[in-house]
Amino acid sequence: MAAVPEFPARCVIWFGSPLAAERTALAAAGWQVRGVATDDCVAIGMRGSDHVVGLLDLRTALPANLARLQALLDEHRHMTLLAILPAGAPPPSPALQALLAVCVETFAAPLDLARIVQRLQQLAGDAKQPPTHGPQQLIGDSAVLQVARSAIRKFAPVDLPVLITGETGTGKELAAQALHALSPRHARPFLAVNCGAIPAALVQSELFGHERGAFTGAANRRLGLFETASGGTVFLDEIGDLPLDAQTNLLRVLQEGTVERVGSNKPLAVDVRVLAATHVDLEQAVERGQFRRDLFYRLNVLRLPLPPLRDRGSDILLLAQHFLASFRDRHVTRARGFSADARRALERFHWPGNVRELLNRIQRAAIVTDAELISAADLELVPAQLEMPQRLLHDARRSAERDALLHALRQNEFNITACARDMQVSRVTVYRLCRKHQLALPELR
Ligand SMILES: Nc1ncnc2c1ncn2[C@@H]1O[C@H](COP(=O)(O)OP(=O)(O)O)[C@@H](O)[C@H]1O
Ligand SMILES: [Mg+2]
Repeated sequence: MAAVPEFPARCVIWFGSPLAAERTALAAAGWQVRGVATDDCVAIGMRGSDHVVGLLDLRTALPANLARLQALLDEHRHMTLLAILPAGAPPPSPALQALLAVCVETFAAPLDLARIVQRLQQLAGDAKQPPTHGPQQLIGDSAVLQVARSAIRKFAPVDLPVLITGETGTGKELAAQALHALSPRHARPFLAVNCGAIPAALVQSELFGHERGAFTGAANRRLGLFETASGGTVFLDEIGDLPLDAQTNLLRVLQEGTVERVGSNKPLAVDVRVLAATHVDLEQAVERGQFRRDLFYRLNVLRLPLPPLRDRGSDILLLAQHFLASFRDRHVTRARGFSADARRALERFHWPGNVRELLNRIQRAAIVTDAELISAADLELVPAQLEMPQRLLHDARRSAERDALLHALRQNEFNITACARDMQVSRVTVYRLCRKHQLALPELR
């Protein structure tokens, strides 16, 4: 599969402990928040194209964090730094002064969250408000997509889990957002978490929270995702990656509507709807003992399969036009359409990364092209990529050739002359074919 750059993610690395309301406001604006409250090793997965903003919260940051922050800034030069300064703070140490000097903006506590959100959106290059999500956002007219859209309409108002399945990039997260937007919970938070992206040791605390002192490094009580999303929706992406102990606790959320913070055995009632997505076959994971059967049945009540892009016919061009148009709204490009060869290539390609890959290829093409019409070459859909079926054909031919050769050899008891006569080729060719297919004659005989 060709390596495709992911669409940039937006992440705030919060040095200190954000309040639940702060987390929620940022999440609603499309910013994931990673809190770094202590010195423990929170893995911060960053890709080069991500919008990452460090936020130094001097209300709660620990001195131990500052070195960590400095190291991150050195390592990720594209990371921007903002700071929150509490009133009447002691004079900053030289180390802190150096950090404050590189802050592009500082905010005074108590915080004006709307201003922080606005600043973050500017840093990510869009002053516009994030689009409100609804099924209308799921572009496409193909019959398979109509089916998915109508299922979304039916499932949205029902307060049950939905299991969204489909290959990567087919729009599972978008569908989850649509389910939330069309549900009675739409005014409450929608919080998404990728179960595979959190280090296994931190999953429980991330989802269910922890009490102060629950484990080494848990300096403060922390609310988990389920408590923060109260009244709203939690979207568990790549649910197949959820460790077994966290599966047990998730089952409790679904069965009893309660969570227990790590380090406490007091059940707390939570009111959340769970949406889950997977690109792996959960039934197989159940058979292998990697996924709890009871949890699977609970999640699998309403199932929403999303079709791969290659099965969506004319949607490909529709989506391509849509992505180009929205790129043109935000950036300067000469491109205003697609050449005939580009359209053919778009329709013929097998799209292993589905809609996400299409979006990335269109954005890249719109940037690199000098022409008004994007070509197949701009999309990097030159014959090498399209030849995939050709290659498969080649592999099939190769294996048929090997079978025929082996059959002829066996028929003639590995007599090369007789075999060559049967196959109507020269003896030299038989020897060459044996080498090509790695058939060792002395051993076979
Ligand atoms: N039907 C669609 N219409 C418009 N955009 C889509 C559609 N499906 C997916 N996308 C876009 O493609 C990208 C990948 O979608 P996402 O929901 O993250 O996929 P998944 O979670 O299945 O990997 C996102 O940028 C999303 O907005
Ligand atoms: Mg996804």
